[in-house]
Order: sequence, then C-alpha cells, then structure tokens
Amino acid sequence: MGGVPWRRLRFAAPPTPQRSGVGDFRKSSYAPLDAICATPAGGAGVARSAGIFRRVSNLARANMKTRITELLGTRYPIVEGGMQWIGRAKLAAAVSNAGALGMITARTQRTPDDLRREIDRTRELTDKPFGVNLTLSLTNTDVTYDDWVDAIVASGVQIVETAGNNPKPVITAFKEAGLKVIHKCTAVRHALSAERMGVDVISIDSFEAAGHMGEGDVGSMVMIPATVQAVKIPVIASGGIWGGRAIAAALALGADGVNIGTRFALTQECESHDNVKQALLKGNEHSTILLKRTLKRSARYFRNEAAEQVLAMELRPGGATYDDLAPLLAGERGRKVLETGDVPSGLIGASQAIAMIDDIPACQELVSRMMAECRTALCETLARFDD
Ligand SMILES: Cc1cc2nc3c(=O)[nH]c(=O)nc-3n(C[C@H](O)[C@H](O)[C@H](O)COP(=O)(O)O)c2cc1C
Repeated sequence: MGGVPWRRLRFAAPPTPQRSGVGDFRKSSYAPLDAICATPAGGAGVARSAGIFRRVSNLARANMKTRITELLGTRYPIVEGGMQWIGRAKLAAAVSNAGALGMITARTQRTPDDLRREIDRTRELTDKPFGVNLTLSLTNTDVTYDDWVDAIVASGVQIVETAGNNPKPVITAFKEAGLKVIHKCTAVRHALSAERMGVDVISIDSFEAAGHMGEGDVGSMVMIPATVQAVKIPVIASGGIWGGRAIAAALALGADGVNIGTRFALTQECESHDNVKQALLKGNEHSTILLKRTLKRSARYFRNEAAEQVLAMELRPGGATYDDLAPLLAGERGRKVLETGDVPSGLIGASQAIAMIDDIPACQELVSRMMAECRTALCETLARFDD
C-alpha cells in the first residue's frame, strides 16, 4: 500500500458518502472517483492546492505496489486461485491480461503432456505472468506428483500454487527448480509450516472459501490478520473476495493481496455452461453448503440437489464412508455439470461470494472495476476522519 496518496489528504470537512448499503455498492455503476474523493464546496482550495484533483483523475488507471505485485510481476495484487475443470488457458490468460495473475489448474488436464499443451496455449494468449496450480489430493490415476512437477518445471512456468496435504516434497522440488511458490492453506499452523518449507507466499483460505476451506471455520476477519501476524512472508487473503470492497478490507487487514476463485468463475472467459453461471448468480449468502465434514475433508459447494443428497447421506444414522459417497463426489461428474449445464446433477464448487455477485463481466472489465472500487472504498473510509 506504499505511496497511497490518500494518507496525505486533508479534507476541510468530510465529503458526503455517495452511497450506502449493499444494494448500491454491489453494482458496477460507481460514481466517478473524482466525485467521491473531491472535497466538498468550500474545502476545495486545500485539496486543489495539493494537486489532489490531478491525482484523483489518475486513480482508475493507477497500478498498485505491494510485495505481491513485486514478487509476481503483476499490475495488481490479485491471484486467480486454482479451480478444477475451470482453470484453463482462456480464463488464465484473460485474468493475466487484465493485470492479475492467471492460474492453470494442472489436474484439470488428463496427463502432464496435456498440461504442457495447455501452458503453451496460455502463452499464445498472453505475454503476462501466469501460474500453475498443483493440488495434492487423493488420486486414482497412474500419474504421480513427480510427473506433474516435472511437466511444470520443464514448461518454464515461473510461478506455482500448491494446495493440499503433505506438500513438502512438491514444494522442495519446485523451490530447487527456482520457481516461486504460493502455498494455499487453511490454518495459521499450516502457514507457519509452509513458511519453514521455504514457500514465497502464503494464500490463506478462510471459512467463506469455495473448495476445501479446512476444518477450523475461521472467518476472514480473524484469519487474515492472524496469518499476517504469524508469518514474515507475503500473505494473500482467500475466501469470499467478491469485489473491490472485499479487496480493500483484505488489504486493510494486512494482506499483501488477494486470491479469487468464484468471482473469476463468473466471467465471460470462464468456459462453464451458462446454466451453471446463471444458477450461481441467483445465489445468496445461504446458497452454499459444506460437505464431507463427517470425513474431516470439508469443502464448500453450491447448494443444489446433488449437494443436498451428499449431505443427507452424511447425516443419516450411521453416516457414510468415503466409498459410499464416491459416486456422487466423482470429479468426472463435476466436470460434466460444468459442460452440460445440468445444474442439479453434480457438485459445483462455489463460495459465499456468490451472495454479492450480480453479473458476468469480461475479466478486463472485472479487474479494472474491482481496483476502482477498492480505491473508492479506501478513499471513502479515510474521508470519514475529520482531520
Ligand atoms: C469451482 C472451483 C474449483 C476449485 N478447485 C480447486 C482446486 O482444484 N484446487 C485448489 O487448490 N483450489 C480450488 N478451488 C479453491 C480456489 O482456488 C480458491 O482458493 C477459492 O475459490 C477462494 O475462495 P472464493 O471462491 O471465495 O474466491 C476451487 C474453487 C472453485 C470455485
């Protein structure tokens, strides 16, 4: 947040807030920053003499500088989280072209050779940095983690996101090959242990997040500052980041940047079926559900028929084993839903962010809008001080 001009602003009187309430700020039709940040009549001289108006006009075009932008070489401190079946070349390149860090999800590809081709496709679509997510989880294929690591290293990609259990061997291999490693985890103790393993960035998933959000149920308000306080390396906040105000909040809580999944899944460049996007758009803060809690592998999904069915099995007398649930949890079933748009038929990863998402913009528009909203939020908040 270094160099934020607002720190130096002195308003003669606090400007009147332009909006209040969720119904206003979740929309994209923000009042121009100039209008929001300009001093009220009578106080203009103070700001104008400090050259504020010129700076305000430049805000929407400004880059940001945090430890994340410097480390990853991006314009903004935003990372696209790995998303199974969704993290493909088209979306990753669009996110990177918009100034954030796009992410290919390795295990969306059937084989390491397919992954190499997907990385090549991404390079054809963007000359900006992007990364590859490698998620460590149960696997029933013959492909080993070493195979995935070898393919990623050989591809020349410079940034990886690791997630999942027992990441040490994989992290060590990536670090020895000179890659920058973002490790995504769900507890402060895991962040500390990843820091000791030598990762470059901690991505901390809070309770709101889609996918595996851990067993601790700690929300962003505490999870972000607790992690920032615990580790020395940069932290990106993950879970429930739906727009610029949420980014502003994460930065104010001490994060160096944010990790975003669901919001990027609801963009034009995401290749999921439109039925899926429309169903998620209709969701509110109660439209996600936690599954696999009884197996201590909790994950957050969109609340649809398939998800309710899994939950009912888990909660029945005697519960359910992983094998009982396996047909419903099968990854292929999830892939099919995204392809066919038959929304009730399989699990769809989604976070509580869907409560605040109303549209399906292109990534360029989304990222620019979020950064403008972030600046506006910080500006409006600072303007409430009366000095
Ligand atoms: C559809 C979907 C699939 C996901 N698949 C993965 C995955 O394979 N590996 C992973 O590390 N995280 C996965 N995630 C989690 C995201 O990378 C990210 O941590 C999470 O979405 C952040 O919360 P948010 O959705 O509120 O932004 C997935 C998220 C979604 C929405």
